[in-house]
Amino acid sequence: MAKRVLVLNGPNLNLLGTREPDIYGAATLKDVETLCKQTGEEVGLSVDFRQSNHEGELVTWIQDARKTADAILINPAAYSHTSVAIHDALKAVGLPVAEVHLSNIHQREAFRHHSYVSAVAFGVICGFGVTGYRLALMALADKLK
Ligand code: DQA
Repeated sequence: MAKRVLVLNGPNLNLLGTREPDIYGAATLKDVETLCKQTGEEVGLSVDFRQSNHEGELVTWIQDARKTADAILINPAAYSHTSVAIHDALKAVGLPVAEVHLSNIHQREAFRHHSYVSAVAFGVICGFGVTGYRLALMALADKLK
């Protein structure tokens, strides 16, 4: 059976395509979902793709992943820089986590340089735009072999 990856997207990523396209690119969240599903098929992963603007909803989905997923790919968006709750949930669940950012957060404002998620992720990809999701899924497929 294919291993299952829960792909989570945090706040404002529903606006991809129209949101600061010079920073985040022209692809919509639907395009990112299509890319993730296609990549999943190529590397033998089933992909459950979600987005929420609510921290608590993301925490609940992470908790539920104990029963429904083998790994988590997360772009926590702004919650990367603020959320101890998401950090704690990922740690509690103990699944392999890949963290993705479309933009190079280290090249941007100082408040984006720290992510609470990075300490509980086995790898972090940033700055490669939507390709980062593809790279992270490939890395997760290797990790889950
Ligand atoms: C982001 C970077 C974050 O700093 C920002 O708050 C986002 C998106 C990215 O994908 O580049 O919303 O996670």
